[in-house]
Amino acid sequence: MTTLTKIDLQYEKIASGKVRELYRIPGSESLLFITTDRISCFDVILETGIPEKGAILTRLSSFWFQLLQARIPNLRTHLLTLGIPPSLQTIRHLPRSNHSPFAGNQDQVLYEEIQKRSMIVQRLKVFPIESIVRGYITGSAWASYKKDGTMHGVTLPEGLQESQKFDKPVWTPSTKAEQGVKDENISPEEAASIIRQTYPEDYTEYAARIEELSLAIYHEASVYAAERGIIIADTKLEFALDESTSPPSVVLVDEVLTPDSSRFWSAEKYEVGRPQDSLDKQFVRDWLIDKALKGKEGVKLPREIVERTSATYIEAYEMLVGEKWRDEVTFLNSELA
Ligand SMILES: Nc1ncnc2c1ncn2[C@@H]1O[C@H](COP(=O)(O)OP(=O)(O)OP(=O)(O)O)[C@@H](O)[C@H]1O
Ligand SMILES: [Mg+2]
Repeated sequence: MTTLTKIDLQYEKIASGKVRELYRIPGSESLLFITTDRISCFDVILETGIPEKGAILTRLSSFWFQLLQARIPNLRTHLLTLGIPPSLQTIRHLPRSNHSPFAGNQDQVLYEEIQKRSMIVQRLKVFPIESIVRGYITGSAWASYKKDGTMHGVTLPEGLQESQKFDKPVWTPSTKAEQGVKDENISPEEAASIIRQTYPEDYTEYAARIEELSLAIYHEASVYAAERGIIIADTKLEFALDESTSPPSVVLVDEVLTPDSSRFWSAEKYEVGRPQDSLDKQFVRDWLIDKALKGKEGVKLPREIVERTSATYIEAYEMLVGEKWRDEVTFLNSELA
């Protein structure tokens, strides 16, 4: 298994996030959307990556995009195809340099490693909010409720217990802060007013559509996941506006329903009244806290933690998709033929 944390292609880089690298595809409106194996905890990128993580997240997101589109009428997503587009086949012949991921005699291997972690997506203007849906009270929502009985300004019934299911899932948007700054939970009204800054005329409509789609996505995904023994406690989505359609359409972008963007709990082990282990970076978080390294830069993880984390991502993939994880480029021939 390979671990790919740094990618430096000689194309125009549009964005470099904690986990992803976005490149403009020359001569097209689309983006090469590459998910690396980087892992961030408590908003800091760790020195060590998790083998295969980018490939797992890429395939899991693509699985959800297809499932959701089949179940939610009029849902549009940014995904065009998986893999590297034919026009970038030249990527294979990039001049060798120390910066090139194809340096050395590993060109082919590295090409395939990028291929497995790549999607071609429509380049769109992302709404500057995180669209969160919560079905269970946990995390920052539980902390806020314990403090003053509200969840980010919304009053909740008395007597809720930790990890309790809400009567109905709730939309709790947050700001989408720049790197290094913490996202803040906001009310639906505040979310609408953030959207208003960019779209003074249609902001109510866009905010309502983002809320409606988010709740529909959470609903469909939770029904599906429940059949596979997974509770989706909450999830974070991102949306963008496609202004090339008339009227402009709200499109689901970024990653969807992965262990990085959601809390997945084992239905079997679920018990109200206590925190639940989630199928994600739990080992890493616990290890960082234990070693007093929470929030520190440049942390290297021990092999055991890396292996357990990788196994957890694979477990989440296999439970949700219902197929064994195979470390190979399954779509290579069909997509690039
Ligand atoms: N279709 C798209 N067009 C343009 N930008 C997009 C599109 N889809 C996603 N993005 C943006 O690409 C970036 C993805 O990078 P990454 O997931 O590493 O982000 P991050 O915001 O640093 O981390 P995190 O999501 O963990 O908070 C995000 O800023 C996201 O808003
Ligand atoms: Mg992200």
